[in-house]
Amino acid sequence: MADDFTDLSYHVGTYGKNTLWVCDSNTSKMVRPLPTPNVVLEAGESSKSFTCLEKIISTAIESNLGRDCTFIALGGGMVCDITAFAASIYMRGCKVILIPTTFMAMADASLGGKTSINFRFAKDIVGSFFPANEVLICTDSLRSLSNKDYMNGFATVLKHSLLTKDDTLFNILAAQKQKVMDRDQETLKAIITISLQVKKSYVDNDPYERLGIRSALTVGSTFAHALESMSRLQWSSGQAEAWGICKSVEASRELGLCTPDFCAGVLKLFAFYGYDTSYKIQRGDWMDYKNQLCKDKKSVNGVVNFVLLKDQGEYEIRPLDDEVIKKLVMYPSV
Ligand SMILES: NC(=O)c1ccc[n+]([C@@H]2O[C@H](COP(=O)([O-])OP(=O)(O)OC[C@H]3O[C@@H](n4cnc5c(N)ncnc54)[C@H](O)[C@@H]3O)[C@@H](O)[C@H]2O)c1
Repeated sequence: MADDFTDLSYHVGTYGKNTLWVCDSNTSKMVRPLPTPNVVLEAGESSKSFTCLEKIISTAIESNLGRDCTFIALGGGMVCDITAFAASIYMRGCKVILIPTTFMAMADASLGGKTSINFRFAKDIVGSFFPANEVLICTDSLRSLSNKDYMNGFATVLKHSLLTKDDTLFNILAAQKQKVMDRDQETLKAIITISLQVKKSYVDNDPYERLGIRSALTVGSTFAHALESMSRLQWSSGQAEAWGICKSVEASRELGLCTPDFCAGVLKLFAFYGYDTSYKIQRGDWMDYKNQLCKDKKSVNGVVNFVLLKDQGEYEIRPLDDEVIKKLVMYPSV
């Protein structure tokens, strides 16, 4: 972790000329002058596309970058994902350095080697596993983040606090709300460090997500992605993720997998940070919601599997009956 952006830029400057910088229209302003060659993508998820991938690869070729070059991503999860994917296929793989500038990218996207672009409205449908050679984090850059983007990434930190038996992170989050909301640098460094340690413990034991261990990191996402898609992306991913995690824990409580106290504690923590934990879909939207659930990547032979938390750091992956799902996500009939 670097103390400020000047330190970090100086460090990256030592990589020499054989580099390609990739950023978006917001993060390009963070390093002045931006080293060349560079690619500046339009900010936003729509840039995680084949068109932008082509732009990165074309610039690398036009700049005569060889296989020993390094791609440097300066930005949020969008820039990190597409740059690392481009690095994984350029000349069958060159080096990649990630400089994450959002909460989401620092606490999640920068670690674990998942790279991707979207295609034909399917999220992260094209990608590879290609861990970064180096990740440089400077929490100072989170000061300029909008509140919406800040809270989006923060939901991931709350999630990580529930995926470990060690309650250090959970306790910091429960006790230091003001410092978190004030973006206090020491608090941010501490929670991002622990958050990454939690993610690393799952990734190290199941790097390619084939053993059902790394899938635990997707707790809540089945409920959440269906809500995001059904609402035509009116819900931001972090707000939906927070809601989805609460639904997973409520499902555990319904099935007797976790205690009512554990469930109440989780709901309280998310509500404490202002997330909507009790939202219900309209009865008329059930079929739409159910159709979206069926598109989940964790479904096997048409059966949708949910990650359910049984306690802090304990989970089970299993299908749920429609009646249980309906009870949790939908207004009851009158
Ligand atoms: N690879 C993984 O394991 C993984 C994990 C989680 C999320 N993701 C991906 O991450 C992406 C979402 O990431 P995100 O939330 O960072 O979104 P993002 O990259 O689109 O950034 C959100 C916005 O913040 C702006 N921004 C970035 N840094 C800023 C700063 N310091 N100050 C002000 N504005 C800044 C960006 O320009 C953009 O407008 C999604 O595509 C998701 O699929 C990947």
